[in-house]
Amino acid sequence: MGRVEGKVALITGAASGLGAADARMLAREGARVVLTDVNEELGRQTAASIPGALFLRHDVRDEAQWQSVIAATVEHFGGLDVLVNNAGLVQFTSVEDTPLEQYRFVNAVMSEGTFLGCKHAIPAMRKTGRGGSIINISSIAAIMGIGEIASYTAAKGAIRSLTRSVAIHCYNKRDGIRCNVILPGAHETPMTASAGVALSDATSGALDQLNNHGQGSPEGVAAMVVFLASDESRHVTGAEFVIDGGETIR
Ligand SMILES: NC(=O)c1ccc[n+]([C@@H]2O[C@H](COP(=O)([O-])OP(=O)(O)OC[C@H]3O[C@@H](n4cnc5c(N)ncnc54)[C@H](O)[C@@H]3O)[C@@H](O)[C@H]2O)c1
Repeated sequence: MGRVEGKVALITGAASGLGAADARMLAREGARVVLTDVNEELGRQTAASIPGALFLRHDVRDEAQWQSVIAATVEHFGGLDVLVNNAGLVQFTSVEDTPLEQYRFVNAVMSEGTFLGCKHAIPAMRKTGRGGSIINISSIAAIMGIGEIASYTAAKGAIRSLTRSVAIHCYNKRDGIRCNVILPGAHETPMTASAGVALSDATSGALDQLNNHGQGSPEGVAAMVVFLASDESRHVTGAEFVIDGGETIR
């Protein structure tokens, strides 16, 4: 038996990087997976490489799309057990250089996208009567001060805090729904590849802040996602998991 046998898992931003690795590992461990992303072409390609996977185009900023994506998941697979709020993007500007529109955009994707995911997944999970697991993807940017990515840092801090609010809300409802947050350091994905380009002229201090001296592989994060999605973590909620090769304890 797989570790998440039969569970239905929805992963946002799953066309590439960490989300794609999560979807692959969850499927390998027996989950039925729904991949969503704004990148429709790559999302379809990634889903096609995972047996039985469903791809849905989905902009996580849009509440109506959240409602239809969750409804389609329930219709296709009969319920929802796991949500991975993973979709994200990074913009390389300091607080002084960030236009308000950019700040709002980055926060709309990650802070508001995660909020909408939690808001709409909870009732769908509750309907199954078997609880559920929401896994939010923050970043060590929510712990460190990283001056070059002001809006990203704010959004990841919001995700980290929201996780505790969602966890205690569900705990008080006694509905068996858990909510935890993963705070990755730098991992090898298209996002960090673009970071290397964007920061090529930056100071060595800025590069060091982004953990340029050692990146993890997406499978390390996916392994934590599988644990949090599975019943092995049934007693774990409101918790934070840093996966950064020791970056934040230096
Ligand atoms: N790679 C790292 O080092 C790292 C470190 C810490 C946190 N994270 C977080 O992990 C998550 C995944 O990042 P990644 O490194 O795999 O990057 P990635 O760029 O490979 O994947 C992010 C995905 O999110 C999608 N996306 C962007 N905006 C969207 C929207 N509005 N609606 C739906 N999908 C949208 C993109 O199309 C992309 O496929 C992000 O939340 C990121 O902040 C990554």
